This record gives sequence, C-alpha cells and structure tokens, in this order.
Amino acid sequence: MWNELKTHHNTVADRRFETLVDASRARDFSAQAGDMLFDYAKTNIDATGRALLVKLLDDAGVADKRDAMFAGAPINETEGRAVLHTALRNLDGGPITVDGADVMPEILSTLDRMSEFATSVRDGSFAGQGGKITDVINIGIGGSDLGPAMAVKALAPYHDGPRCHFVSNVDPADIAGVLRQCDPATTLVIVASKTFTTIETMTNARTAQAWMGQSVTDTGAQFAALSTAEDKTAAFGIDPSRVFGFEDWVGGRYSMWGPIGLSLMIAVGGDAFRAFLRGGQAMDVHFKSAAWDENVPALLALVGIWHNQICGYSTRSVLPYDNLLSRLPAYLQQLEMESNGKGVSMDGADLDVNSGPVVWGEPGTNGQHAFYQLIHQGTRVIPCEFLVAARGHEDDLHHQHQLLVANCLAQSEALMRGRDLDEARGKVADKFEGAELERQAKHRVFPGNRPSVTIAYPQLDPFMLGQIIALYEHRVFVEGVVLGINSYDQWGVELGKELATALQPVVEGTQGTDGKDGSTAALVSFLQKNGV
Ligand code: F6P
Repeated sequence: MWNELKTHHNTVADRRFETLVDASRARDFSAQAGDMLFDYAKTNIDATGRALLVKLLDDAGVADKRDAMFAGAPINETEGRAVLHTALRNLDGGPITVDGADVMPEILSTLDRMSEFATSVRDGSFAGQGGKITDVINIGIGGSDLGPAMAVKALAPYHDGPRCHFVSNVDPADIAGVLRQCDPATTLVIVASKTFTTIETMTNARTAQAWMGQSVTDTGAQFAALSTAEDKTAAFGIDPSRVFGFEDWVGGRYSMWGPIGLSLMIAVGGDAFRAFLRGGQAMDVHFKSAAWDENVPALLALVGIWHNQICGYSTRSVLPYDNLLSRLPAYLQQLEMESNGKGVSMDGADLDVNSGPVVWGEPGTNGQHAFYQLIHQGTRVIPCEFLVAARGHEDDLHHQHQLLVANCLAQSEALMRGRDLDEARGKVADKFEGAELERQAKHRVFPGNRPSVTIAYPQLDPFMLGQIIALYEHRVFVEGVVLGINSYDQWGVELGKELATALQPVVEGTQGTDGKDGSTAALVSFLQKNGV
C-alpha cells in the first residue's frame, strides 16, 4: 500500500490543490466530532488518495487494535502492559478487565477521593499551617507536568481555586522562581511522578521539603503524591490519605486524566474536571464508532501520514489561534514525539519509512511575527495545523477575537494560494522598473500550495479541551499502528539518563574524565574552570 500511495503521490505532486477546493470539497474533506469541525480540504489529498490511505488502516488492522486497546489487551508489547488511559475517562462506561479483574471500581473510587481532596483544598477544610491553601506547586516532569500545566492554562477562565505553579526542570532557577512567590505555610506541594524515581522530580521534591521545613513544623502534612509507587511515596513521608495512585497501564504522557490531573482539579473544581473527562470520553465514542472517512482522529492521522511518510514533509507545526492553548505544542511534542519517535517496528525490524514527525509550534498570532516567514517562503514544506475557537471568553473584546479568527483563516488561505510572480510584480510596479522590478518582485513571491488543516470549535471549555486532547491521543495511536511501532514505550530516553548519572561525580570533581571522549572532557574542564 505504501508503494501505491507513493505512486499516486507522484501523479498528483505537481498539482495546485487550490484548484480542487470548491464548496463540495469543503464538505467532503471535512468531518465533525460533536461540535468540533476538522477541515482538511486545504491539502493535496483527493478521493483516490484518501481511499488508499483508508486502506492503510484496514491493512494495519487499526480497528482490531483499537478495540484491543479499549478492552485492556497488553498492546504495549515491549513492556507487556495494557494501554488504558481511556479507562480513566470511562465515567459511564461498563467494566474494563485487566488480568481478569475489572479496573473501573478502583479508578472511580480514586476519582472520588481526588474530588474530595480537591474540594477540601478549595474550600479551606484542608489547610496549611498558616491557613487556607493559597498556592499549589506541582513538581513533576514530562507527562507528570506537561498535561496539567497545559490544561491549567487552557482552562484559565474556569480557574477559581488556589494559584497553581509547575516546577519541572532540575535547573534550580525553576524551583527557586516558584518558591519565591509562595508562603510555605499556605502552600500545598504535589509530587507527581509515576515512578517516584525521576531524578529531577525527586531532587526538586527534596528542595521543596527543605524549604517547607524552614517555617512549617509538619512538612509532610502539606505534601501530596501522585504515583504508581505507593511504597516510595510512603518512604518519602507522605501520608497515604494524600497519595493518589494509578496503574502502570497509564503511560506518563497519557496520565493527565487521572491523579496526575489533581492540580487541574484543584484549580477548576471537580465538576469542570469531570466535564474534561466527559469530553475525552465523547472523543473515544466517536473514534470507536465513526466510519474511517468520518472519523476525525483517523483522518488527522491519515493527513499526518500523507504529509510525513508519503510526501516526506518531516515536521508539522501546531498553531493554536487560541492563546489559552499556548502550551499545547509543548504538550504535543511529548505526546507525539515520545510516542512515535521510534525507528524499529514492533517485531524488531528497522522502519523503512520516516518515524513520527518533528512537532513544534506557538500560538497565533505570535508565530506570524516570528517564524511564519519560513513557513511561507522557506524551501521546505511545513504542514500546519491550526486550531481556532469561534468565541473567546472575553465578551467585551469580541472584536479582538474576530481579528484573531481572520488572521487564522488568512494564514491557511495564504499558504494555499501563495502569490505568483505576476501578482508580485503588480505589488511593486509603481516603485521599480526593468531588472530591479524583476529582482524586487521575486522576493515577494509566495510559492503557495502549502497544506494545512484546521480544527475549529465553538469555545474552549473543559469538555472541548477533553475532546481535543483525546483527539491527538488517538491520532498518535493510529499513526503508530500504521507504522507498526509501539507508541507506548520510550526506551530512547534511557541512555541520556544513564550517562547523566555517571557524569554527575565527574562534574562534581570527585571522579576524573578518564574514558570520556575529548569533547566531553574539554567541556567538563571548561565548566569546572568557570565554577561548576
Ligand atoms: O524520561 C521520560 C519519562 O519517563 C516520561 O515518559 C515521563 O512522562 C517522565 O519521564 C516522568 O516520569 P515520572 O512520572 O515517572 O516521573
């Protein structure tokens, strides 16, 4: 099928897809999931290409693997684990069985405990030594940080709980900057770590403990933990009543739907958090039931495969025209690149197509005044993914929102249409002539024919955020199945961790640089001379 797709691509690659985009294409090359519209009309995918892409899904057995995932089968084959983050949002679904036991009672009871704790923090019945909690610090990294940090920003209009801060980096500047803003007597520290061994998180947690201990007698009383490793949370001194556990079949980057979302729940309250879960669950239902050519996660994945594995465009830019989603690109970098950045298929063979793409982006309109130059006129094609809400939350500034929307639509139109040399000449004909006119006009040409997709929705509320995040999760799943890789392990992060542990005594000067390569040894020496 890859070959058929590549052959088809060769026959259409030079076509200007703008010529395809009439009103019927807008209808045929878009799909809806609930209130969300996914438009992929501004791509070079035609009916033949889509049929071939859909065939990829059938050839790869995506439907069976999807059903196996939702049913709790151990599809994370390299770690022998189920992949069941969807169970965390299975609020009114039936039982889900892992190793013969229904996991739902435990999930729902943990959710209830989280709600009770979040409510007590919000209403002051759980207090710090100095009174009602004013600040919550979530200490975690990767999946134990990016999800809740992104979501707390995204749901800022619904944030009516204590201030939330996120510390992730082992760079002391990160935690020092947050601690400066907080009073230990009214701060709750949440240590979020699936494994409770991650060196950055545990180092920051101990720093927070020491900070708290300077002015609070019972420091443990103002700590909570989110982890699968309850023995380790106990050893750290956190009372089991404030430990919220989950199972190893929830991957770190998929974990914000459960205990790792506690900071979000404290920020926006239990009802809004459940609305977020319901949004995710609604996307699950859509993913399980919609035909492939109406299935938004599947189509988003197929567009990704078309651009990356078929056209060879190896990056994609995520551009939310919704400032509340300013951390979405960073969140998606982990979700997509840690999941599908694999060069070996499930059976150990080398991939013969590109692995998952480089994902990057910034909110519009900021990106327009920074890197869009390269997207419009650079030599590479960078497929863009726009997200835009019909309404913001600032009713009195609706005219600004309309300007934002106009900018979003203008960018996808400009990327598609471009500007040819004739039109460019017309722009400067009154200023230049002859060879100078040609030269100046050339700089004003936009090649166009650059693809983008747009995800549009009425407003970013908790339910819609849940839909958006679940959409991207399922897109990653589909792309991973088609590539034949395991999207749920992350062996590629291990080597750096091992070498960092080995380098620590070298940097501290208690061990020499013997055995290190010349470059690393010289860098250590430079940094040591300069006071590391
Ligand atoms: O090193 C990568 C990673 O394992 C991520 O997959 C994970 O989200 C992050 O580290 C944090 O892990 P933990 O939640 O166990 O501290």
